Amino acid sequence: MIYLDQAASSHPKPPEVGEAMLYALNEIGANPGRGSHKLANEASSIISKTRETASRIFGCSDPKKVLFYQNATAALNQAIKGLSWYKGDHVIATTFEHNSIRRPLESIKKQYGVSVTYISWSGEESDFVHRLWQSIRPETKLIAITHASNVTGAVIPVEKIASIGKQHDTPLLVDASQTAGHKTLHMKEMGFDMMAMPGHKGLLGPQGTGLLIVEGDIDLHPINHGGTGSYSESPDQPSQWPEKLESGTLNTPGIAGLLAAMQSYETRYMGDVPRETILSQKVLKGLKQIEGVTCYGPEVQADRMPIVAFNVLDVPSQEIAMVLDSHYDIAVRSGLHCSPLTHEMLNTADQGVVRASLGLYNTEEETEHFLQAVQEIVDSYRSL
Ligand SMILES: Cc1ncc(COP(=O)(O)O)c(C=O)c1O
Repeated sequence: MIYLDQAASSHPKPPEVGEAMLYALNEIGANPGRGSHKLANEASSIISKTRETASRIFGCSDPKKVLFYQNATAALNQAIKGLSWYKGDHVIATTFEHNSIRRPLESIKKQYGVSVTYISWSGEESDFVHRLWQSIRPETKLIAITHASNVTGAVIPVEKIASIGKQHDTPLLVDASQTAGHKTLHMKEMGFDMMAMPGHKGLLGPQGTGLLIVEGDIDLHPINHGGTGSYSESPDQPSQWPEKLESGTLNTPGIAGLLAAMQSYETRYMGDVPRETILSQKVLKGLKQIEGVTCYGPEVQADRMPIVAFNVLDVPSQEIAMVLDSHYDIAVRSGLHCSPLTHEMLNTADQGVVRASLGLYNTEEETEHFLQAVQEIVDSYRSL
């Protein structure tokens, strides 16, 4: 199998990820923060070490503000719904948003009478910044923006957005789902107030893990309440971070795997352009040379993520993905990728797009097989 669905979940993982998970499951097993025996302490120390490692990697001043969730979606929900909303408040997002930002925003829109402006990205930074200046207003309470499109791989100039947000005293929430593990992210230096990410994509950690990291003094109220292993006598949620925003038993085996993945990430050399991005540029270049293939998104050399979106003639994207899977043993993703506004912008709402996304372990040989397969598929449809 050639696995080119890395933007959905990365595969395979560094071997130490599975080893750390098995160790936590079979040798520790105990509940972190819920006891003072040796095994509970060992579980707690995995949790604290993971918070410290994430705050070091992602430039956050306080490890207690590294919060664990089961995926990026849950982290984004906590960030958005954890703010206090009032009728008339305003939010800015982009037309690239995944439903994991769009749906929580649409939900607070209905619940509180908040308005949302979705700015589109034409590929021109100055154009985008101009629209952002036009949209921001005194009632703008949050800018919630994806760092990169999960459909086209286009990268949004988040640092510029952060600096505009600061001038307006408007906090910035960055969805780093497609950039964490591929790009250097340093919240303090980049001016982010909150950042959400999954553990299971570019970071190469396990499914069932996600992080919300908060920098500075943003206040969030919990969207879930319950046991925290602390202040049990009180009927109220503790006010301390992280307990305030983490109720119930944590996913210790998953977090142990995430720690191993982040430790492996820290030791990896990341050039200015990571190797999976260079490989994806070659794929894009190859696809552009096949007559009958339409590619979407930024040009080959633009700042882009290792994601390539394309269609073959006017064939439904699902059909192409099925042929790649069944005839060539190549895994890609088709359809709308949970980002319907992106498809409205690309004019692909009916056909969807085929998305090939690459990761650390993909090889040049695999990409050559993939390009050969697409060429053969185009030839066979053309001969019908
Ligand atoms: C940009 C973006 N945001 C959020 C998500 C949601 O991630 P998760 O499935 O971990 O909740 C994804 C997943 O594809 C994504 O690509």
